[in-house]
Amino acid sequence: MRGLSGALALPGDKSISHRALMLAAIATGTCHISGLLESGDVLATAEALRQCGAHIDKQKNGTWRVIGVGTSGLRAPTKALDFGNSGTGARLMMGLVSGNSNHNQKVRFCGDASLSSRPMQRITAPLAKMAVQIDGTQLPLTITPPPHLVPIDYTPPIASAQVKSALLLAGLGARGASIIREAHPTRDHSENMLRLFGAKIECYGEAAHHIVRLEGHTPLRACDIAVAGDPSSAAFAMVAALIVPGSDITLRNMMVNPHRDGLIRILQQMGGKIKISDQRQVAGETIADIHISASTLRPCTTAADIAPAMIDEYPALAIAAACADGTSSMAGLGELRVKESDRLAAIIDGLRANGVNAKAQGDTLYVEGGKPPKGGGMVATHHDHRIAMAFLVLGLAAQNAISVDDITMIATSYPQFINDMKSLGAHFDH
Ligand code: S3P
Repeated sequence: MRGLSGALALPGDKSISHRALMLAAIATGTCHISGLLESGDVLATAEALRQCGAHIDKQKNGTWRVIGVGTSGLRAPTKALDFGNSGTGARLMMGLVSGNSNHNQKVRFCGDASLSSRPMQRITAPLAKMAVQIDGTQLPLTITPPPHLVPIDYTPPIASAQVKSALLLAGLGARGASIIREAHPTRDHSENMLRLFGAKIECYGEAAHHIVRLEGHTPLRACDIAVAGDPSSAAFAMVAALIVPGSDITLRNMMVNPHRDGLIRILQQMGGKIKISDQRQVAGETIADIHISASTLRPCTTAADIAPAMIDEYPALAIAAACADGTSSMAGLGELRVKESDRLAAIIDGLRANGVNAKAQGDTLYVEGGKPPKGGGMVATHHDHRIAMAFLVLGLAAQNAISVDDITMIATSYPQFINDMKSLGAHFDH
């Protein structure tokens, strides 16, 4: 195929979209959110918040209006909150509900088969320390907020922004300071946005001693949010432009938060021609325009400590590695086994089905590059949106077309993916 060309305005960031809806729902006043990601995952969060009493609607000009219920104003829903495929929605809402809804009223959480098999103890165990009553260790489960939530001082055993964020959202409802100590700093969108909403929050320390301290019982005041473009969705077009010869594209409004830019850093080290321009601020985050052109890639060796800054980008990076000149290794990928699918296994199987040698040793992924991969295989996506998008991208550069068994789940995070890629010149057959 000819090289990809043109420019994309990226969809709103999924992490920020969830957080914007949740904080707006418990603020006092009306928030307008522009650029909200209208994907399955985010719409499930909006619906859950409506069921808890927040007023949320889309305005004629495309912005979303949220009329908050105020601190502690969420009410118990009459039916189970269904988060579909969304781990972020379910886990953050467990924290939000624990700290901000009527005490002693049960809230039931459910989701699809994938979400129901994902670990929830990482959230329920620390919430239990805050005196929240939880029945169940996986979805479906029930949360009963206590009359007096106890603030927490907690060091999460895994690097997880979802754990940190759930505890901060719960901490809003506790009298006193909740403290989260991160050995491996993770995305800080909750901290940035809580600050915008007037929460008393402080972050200090660096790297292995990153500490977040939130003072509870401080009311949030409504504030408008412009959602930055999603670097995790941008990853696919970015890798496609690097590996399809002759490509030259621009991605606009991409968030370049240092806790999310791991993929760009690694691709640049691999020899990827990626330029960042016009950095600017929106709603507490830095965004920029990214210019990418086709490049000859060297293999990468990534250490475990960069994983939190690109945890959702390994499917895309593995595709770049498959097109690089040599063997890449990526360490510290244990968490990939508990994402929307066992992504480590799905990446390896998908690569092998298309003539690329790949294996895992412990939590390290090895991919033997070669240019261009043979392709021609059928990829089992295991209903995982990022596996589907990654292998569709590999198909653009492989010698033979690649098929994926399901594209419906792409709508959970990036409903415009196929259209956006087509607008850059990609061909997909249904
Ligand atoms: C997210 C955090 C990450 C990421 C997920 C979104 C968030 O999960 O994989 O897609 O919005 O906080 P973990 O916290 O489990 O690493």
